[in-house]
Amino acid sequence: MSEKRKGSTSKSRRGHRPGESVRILIPNARVRQRLKQLAREIRRDFPNEPLHLIGVLKGSVFFLADLARELGGEVSFDFLSVSSYGKGIDSTGEVKLIKDLDVSIEGRSVLVVEDILDTGLTLKYLLRFFEEKKPKHLRVVVLLDKVERRIADVRADYTGFTIPNEFVVGYGLDYDERYRNLPDVCVLQFGSRARVKSE
Ligand code: IMP
Repeated sequence: MSEKRKGSTSKSRRGHRPGESVRILIPNARVRQRLKQLAREIRRDFPNEPLHLIGVLKGSVFFLADLARELGGEVSFDFLSVSSYGKGIDSTGEVKLIKDLDVSIEGRSVLVVEDILDTGLTLKYLLRFFEEKKPKHLRVVVLLDKVERRIADVRADYTGFTIPNEFVVGYGLDYDERYRNLPDVCVLQFGSRARVKSE
């Protein structure tokens, strides 16, 4: 049985609620394949440089873990947490620091690892925050980019996938803290019957 099929048949394992269903947008295998390419691109730009990865909690956790293992060379991690979304799917546009970095980034080659670029307001806030700390290099890698939704004038240096304007969950991304554990990137749909569709 394929990974995609195994991961898309059990409703109860996935914690779905009535009225919510998911449709696979990017299967895990495709994500992993793309991460290999991204890691190659990043290492081409920074061949011998120790890279300090900063994951934006919590959505980037799987992305960072998988990307870090593809990068090779010297890699360290740190995490920070900001809130830009309350419960649900609409952004308040407000960005607040919830958890600061553990170690200084001064003089380091920093790679910010974000799950998704939507309005861009979070990344705009983060870039200003990091730039003040004087890293040697500051680059951004995002797994997903919803270009249509952009408000702030920001872009990632490395992008996994450009996706349409749909609310996505899985592979770390959540809706009300749920669905992060889905292996695939899925579109969350609201309807009268809870079910899991596979493509
Ligand atoms: P931005 O500030 O609007 O670019 O939003 C960035 C943050 O919003 C991401 O790091 C996610 O936490 C969240 N977000 C935006 N779009 C989605 C989505 O489709 N699914 C889940 N979270 C999302």
